[in-house]
Amino acid sequence: MIPLSVPVIKGNEKKYADEAISNGWVSASGSYVTRFENEMADYLKVEKTAAVQSGTAALHLSLLLSGVKPGEEVIVPALTFIAAVNPVKYLGAEPVFMDCDDSLNIDCEKLEDFLKKECTKTTLGLRNNKSKRIIRAITAVHIFGNMADMETLVRLADEYGLKLIEDATEALGTRYKDGIFQGKFAGTMGDFGAYSFNGNKIITTGGGGMVTAKNAANVKKCAYLAAQAKDDPLNYVHNHIGYNYRMTNVQAALGVGQLECLEDYIRIKIQNYNYYREGLKTIQDAAVLMPFNEKARNNHWFYSLLLRNKTLKRDSLIRQLKEAGIETRPIWKLNHTQTMYQNCQTYFVEKAPFYQSRIINLPCSVNLTEADMDFVIEALKKS
Ligand SMILES: Cc1ncc(COP(=O)(O)O)c(C=O)c1O
Repeated sequence: MIPLSVPVIKGNEKKYADEAISNGWVSASGSYVTRFENEMADYLKVEKTAAVQSGTAALHLSLLLSGVKPGEEVIVPALTFIAAVNPVKYLGAEPVFMDCDDSLNIDCEKLEDFLKKECTKTTLGLRNNKSKRIIRAITAVHIFGNMADMETLVRLADEYGLKLIEDATEALGTRYKDGIFQGKFAGTMGDFGAYSFNGNKIITTGGGGMVTAKNAANVKKCAYLAAQAKDDPLNYVHNHIGYNYRMTNVQAALGVGQLECLEDYIRIKIQNYNYYREGLKTIQDAAVLMPFNEKARNNHWFYSLLLRNKTLKRDSLIRQLKEAGIETRPIWKLNHTQTMYQNCQTYFVEKAPFYQSRIINLPCSVNLTEADMDFVIEALKKS
């Protein structure tokens, strides 16, 4: 079986994890946590990061520190993994679902339309005319590692007084090559940025996450809340409700080793994407790989094959490929159609259902060989 995406642990990860274990520093205190945070901050060219248990925890803390309160609203994508949405509900707030555009990222034209036509600026914040609730924030996801239109998102967030949370869980290493944010990494342009080191991500710690923020004081607050909001190390004094969201030293040791591989993995991901694209050229009228944002060096985490030919049925293609020994998958069931969110507000969600019904993700692990990719390409041509 050629799997969809598997972690590749081939550098110093084992050495570092062994060291953490033999020193006895296996839980959340330990030098690898600090080292991983510092090395991530250097890589991302930010002042500070805080290591946490997951990307979901990173998003939860980001929304909390953005001031999202019960009864308020957050604008989120209809098309993305559900973990980008659920933290809104953890805080007792409501999501408003926005469509994607042809990049699969949040549609900034529709977003601007919504903010302009459907909302009113008030002294308390931006009010949604329909629900009468205050909209506090936007969560924008860099889908599959593809840079979202941060120039427009930052402008809109400023203009309408909204906090901007970048869900960069899939986009570690994606950075602008051009434009006003030239050199800036996904996750470092909004008020908060969240990363994930889940097993299927471009680098992994088994499970884990990281937060960064425009204001470094907020990163400190994230670390504080992630460690049970402990105000006195001896006497168990806690002045806030905290969480057990800390990353362990063993996870961080894996992270330090994986971070050393990141640039190499991105190079391979781009190379393999181009290999598939070239190999699939002769069937491009039937199926084509979705492009990435040309203004950015994208990490090319996942490859999305758009089925152009209507006679190609997504689910039967997935089945056929599975029988041939190739694992693929459809993209996520749309969030506003999930049981918990069916009654939430949506704003002209039109493109997301089209892409959801016409895209499959191809195997994309960094240890794919040319023979593996040839096998996938030939199977697709046959189908
Ligand atoms: C878009 C998106 N948001 C959030 C998450 C949550 O990250 P984690 O699994 O580390 O909690 C993921 C990945 O799992 C994701 O793909």
